[in-house]
Amino acid sequence: MAHPKEFAEGLSIGIIMDGNGRWAKKRGLPRTAGHAAGAETFRTIAYRCRDLGIPYLTVYAFSTENWKRPLEEVSAIMKLFGEYLLKGFNYKDRNIRIKFLGDRAALDAKLQKLMNELEEDSAAKTGMTLNIAVNYGGRPEIVRAARQLAQQVAEGTLKPEDITEEMMSDHMYTAGQKDPDFILRPSGEKRLSNFMLWQAAYAELVEMDVLWPDFTRADLDTAIEEFNHRSRRFGGI
Ligand code: IPE
Ligand code: IPE
Ligand code: MG
Repeated sequence: MAHPKEFAEGLSIGIIMDGNGRWAKKRGLPRTAGHAAGAETFRTIAYRCRDLGIPYLTVYAFSTENWKRPLEEVSAIMKLFGEYLLKGFNYKDRNIRIKFLGDRAALDAKLQKLMNELEEDSAAKTGMTLNIAVNYGGRPEIVRAARQLAQQVAEGTLKPEDITEEMMSDHMYTAGQKDPDFILRPSGEKRLSNFMLWQAAYAELVEMDVLWPDFTRADLDTAIEEFNHRSRRFGGI
C-alpha cells in the first residue's frame, strides 16, 4: 500500500460521523457517552487530514433532522460542541481554518457567539479548511441558495435565464471550495442522510463497517486507498 500522503494531497473529503449511539449501546453506556467518544475521534481524524495535506474536510456533526432526538441527547451534543470547540481543538498551531455549515440561528446564543469567534479567529489560516456541519441539511441549503437568487431576480439585478450552476455553488455554505471527491460514511449505513446534496453530484461514496468512535487513522488511510482505486468517469468513458 502506497503511503496515503501521496494520494491524499488536494482531496476534498466529507465524513458522516455516524455510529456513536450503537457504539455506546454495545458497551451498555448511555448514547451520550458515544457522542463524547465520537468527539475524540473527530479531533484525531481532523488532525490526521491536516497532516495528510487534505485542503478541505467537511464533517457532519448535527443534521436538521437530529432535532427529533430526545432533548437530553440533543443538549449533550450541543454541550460537547462548546467544550470541544472552545478548549479541545487546536486549530491555531495546526493552521486550520474553521467554517460552520448550516443554520446557526436556531442554536444557543452562547454557542453561536463561539462559532462566530472561531470563524473570525481562524479565517486567515491556510493549512486546511475544516467545515463543521451543524444544524445542516442539504435540502435547506439548496432552498437558501434559491431564495438568495430569487431575491436578486425580484430586485431586477438578475435574469432567471442567467442563473448558472456556478452561481448556485456560490450560494452554498461551501462557496469557493472544492466539491467533495469522496464522502465517507462509517457505521455501515449506505445513505447520504441530507449531507452535501448539491456538492455530492460526482462524489465517490465510501462506506465502512466501523462505528465512528472506533474509527482510527489507519481506517482513514484505508478509505483514501479505496477511493484511489475507484475509476471516476464523470459521465465520460
Ligand atoms: C452520529 O451518531 C452522531 C449524530 C447524528 C449527532 P448516531 O447518534 O447517529 O449513532 P447511531 O447511528 O445511533 O449509532
Ligand atoms: C447523519 O446521521 C447525521 C450525522 C451524522 C450528523 P443520522 O444517524 O442522523 O442518519 P440516519 O437517521 O441514520 O439517516
Ligand atoms: Mg446514526
